[in-house]
Amino acid sequence: MNIDTIANNIQRNLEKLSIFNATPGEGCTRLPFTKEARQAADYLKICMANAGLKVHEDQAGNVIGVLEGEDPEAPALVVGSHFDTVINGGIFDGLAGVVAGIEIARLLKESGKPLKRNFVVIAFNDEEGMRFGTGYFGSKAMLGQITIEDLHRYKDKDGISVYEAMQEYGLVPEQVLDAKQDLSKIKAFIELHIEQGPVLYQNKVDIGLVECIVGIQRYLITVHGRADHAGTTPMDMRIDAVEAATKVISKIPDWAREKGDGTVATTGFIKVLPGGVNIVAEQVQFTVDIRSRNNDNINDIVAKIKEELDKACKANGASWEMDNKLTIDPVNLNENMLTLLEQKCQDYGYSYQRIISGAGHDALAIGQVLDTVMVFVPSKDGRSHCPAEWTEYKDIAKAVTIIHDLILDLQ
Ligand code: GLV
Ligand code: MN
Ligand code: MN
Repeated sequence: MNIDTIANNIQRNLEKLSIFNATPGEGCTRLPFTKEARQAADYLKICMANAGLKVHEDQAGNVIGVLEGEDPEAPALVVGSHFDTVINGGIFDGLAGVVAGIEIARLLKESGKPLKRNFVVIAFNDEEGMRFGTGYFGSKAMLGQITIEDLHRYKDKDGISVYEAMQEYGLVPEQVLDAKQDLSKIKAFIELHIEQGPVLYQNKVDIGLVECIVGIQRYLITVHGRADHAGTTPMDMRIDAVEAATKVISKIPDWAREKGDGTVATTGFIKVLPGGVNIVAEQVQFTVDIRSRNNDNINDIVAKIKEELDKACKANGASWEMDNKLTIDPVNLNENMLTLLEQKCQDYGYSYQRIISGAGHDALAIGQVLDTVMVFVPSKDGRSHCPAEWTEYKDIAKAVTIIHDLILDLQ
């Protein structure tokens, strides 16, 4: 395998895919079920077909390519990641793992060696949860974990439901249940992803072998106050949603820090209504995303948030509600595949280390039910979810070679 050829192919595809972007010049924005997502999906279908894969799009908008093995009954090996991005994100998060999968397919096909098992590449739809505040839509649909009720329940900031967005995208929402795959037909799932943190880059290590992915809970919290005149309503006669909400928001980071074990909690979105300089806030909406290796820590912070919301709202007469958008347990990845990958790194002379993922991935959802492993490649300065996100194409190519060899081992 020629590393330069692999790196060049990956670069060409990632650069081409970066054009499907709603915010050119300000990072990459490819939200699910948008024009840009459709363009990327269509381009991926061409790439997969060119690599010799049989291509289709499932009822959840996942793009799937299959390189057929000799025994159609033998459970398949699946490589994949997502093709959506966050707002103003980078071009590597997600798609690096998809184009890597396509490159592995090309290498397998070109080698001319017959495969026993099907080799499948999946470009998952809507992993980030950016648009609907959720996450892992495509991978959960593949696992049969998305319901029609979910499609109506989750809405974007303009009030468009997943159901409506799917229709706009050309999918039939009622058919989402058909995206469920027969999981007994999948032997293992392997995801290549950029690290999105500084560890590998700082340590000058080529490959991260992911042992564990943190659990995540996400909430949209709404605090209801009362709109009043900011000048004439005395401080003890107002029901200020901002006052109640911010008392809670300001405590959340310390509750995570107190855990002292890498637990993190983030309020990444706050909306005040009606949002006027001289109007007491009628309503505040904010999100919380809590992550830890230890589910008890997440549950404890959620309990503290509820307690504090009660206290803050009681103090001025406000009220609150909390909508759970995502609950997913931490997952340990497959030790057998990790050991095999370690061996591959040694064979190639790549430096490697075991690592924990604080980012969520399709592998987090899939790893709950199938044998799963992840391979990380270094992110320059640890930057990600921003336009500065960068990974060397050669580093992705190195990860491609070890996953390619793992696929051969697992035949
Ligand atoms: C996805 O990148 C996430 O970890 O939120
Ligand atoms: Mn990602
Ligand atoms: Mn991401």
